Amino acid sequence: AVPILTVLGSLNMDLVAYVPHHPLPGETLTADAFATSPGGKGANQAVACAKLSRARPPPPYSSSSSPSPQQGGSSGGGGGGGGETAHVVMVGCVGADAHGAQLRANLAGYGVDVDGVGEAAAGRATGVALIIVDAPTGENRIVLSPGANHALPEGMFRDAGGLAAGLGRRPDLLIMQLEIPFGTVLAALAAAREEGVDVLLNPAPARRLPDEAYVGLAHLVVNETEAAILGEVEESVLDEEEGLERVSARFLEKGVKNVIVTLGGRGVYFMSEDGRKGLVPAEKAKVVDTTGAGDTFVGRYALDAVGKKGAEFDIEAAVRKANKAAAKTVERAGAQDSIPWRDELE
Ligand code: RIB
Ligand code: NA
Repeated sequence: AVPILTVLGSLNMDLVAYVPHHPLPGETLTADAFATSPGGKGANQAVACAKLSRARPPPPYSSSSSPSPQQGGSSGGGGGGGGETAHVVMVGCVGADAHGAQLRANLAGYGVDVDGVGEAAAGRATGVALIIVDAPTGENRIVLSPGANHALPEGMFRDAGGLAAGLGRRPDLLIMQLEIPFGTVLAALAAAREEGVDVLLNPAPARRLPDEAYVGLAHLVVNETEAAILGEVEESVLDEEEGLERVSARFLEKGVKNVIVTLGGRGVYFMSEDGRKGLVPAEKAKVVDTTGAGDTFVGRYALDAVGKKGAEFDIEAAVRKANKAAAKTVERAGAQDSIPWRDELE
């Protein structure tokens, strides 16, 4: 059976302004361009798993009678030119509004199972991310308004029933970030531990985690800022490989099996419980918009990691492939739209 990857996380509509430089306090700036595009770390990671495990579907016919890939229902009925190697499930919450409908349809169009995406009660709008992209460098600054993402109930994932999310079988990998209520994440971690479900945690936006969150965690994927906050060190400690090694080793001591620290242009540091470690250099890319790069990394890495234990998992190869995928994402605008299909990397 194809592995099930379940993402429990956020869905946001990204409102993106491309500007010549980041605005200064009190400054009013005119954008070069503006776009509304599907995002949210959870949804992006689900889309990354889906697109990277499928060939790009053929372009839609111009005839109005042919179904558009954007109108797919749920359960993988949408995009994907066949040969799917993963079943990707999104569990999250949107508002009862146009953004929410658009986000669900977009996910379904990429072949993500959206049966687990609920709708919040009226008054809770779909999550929004205000993103400012500095056009010359492609670097972004983001302000999040979680809205309906924060309506995800805490109790939802306390048991195996919650984890199976209507599929009748548990996921082979549960992927989470921190754009939903922290209590929901902690409850899901506890449930997964009890049920023996592997978890990939991408603790973004960063915050310190209680010690038990690390116990038995299969994969911890952090960027530099997150590594510093969770590891309780100055970010400058991570400038040297020795510092990266020290912080990663500390996560392993707390019970993590595989640690990944993404370092942007410097590459990616990895360390696994059996002593494999190293710094993999970044791929060269013409940076247009870095939004979604980290999520693409997570998705590609997850596809390699799912179902593998110990030495069976080639962590270095997974990092190399994930780097390649993320490099494609930074060369294009937007989050989900910019994530490559599997065949774009072959
Ligand atoms: O990781 C990128 C994402 O972070 C954006 O799509 C935005 O929605 C924010 O959540
Ligand atoms: Na992008």
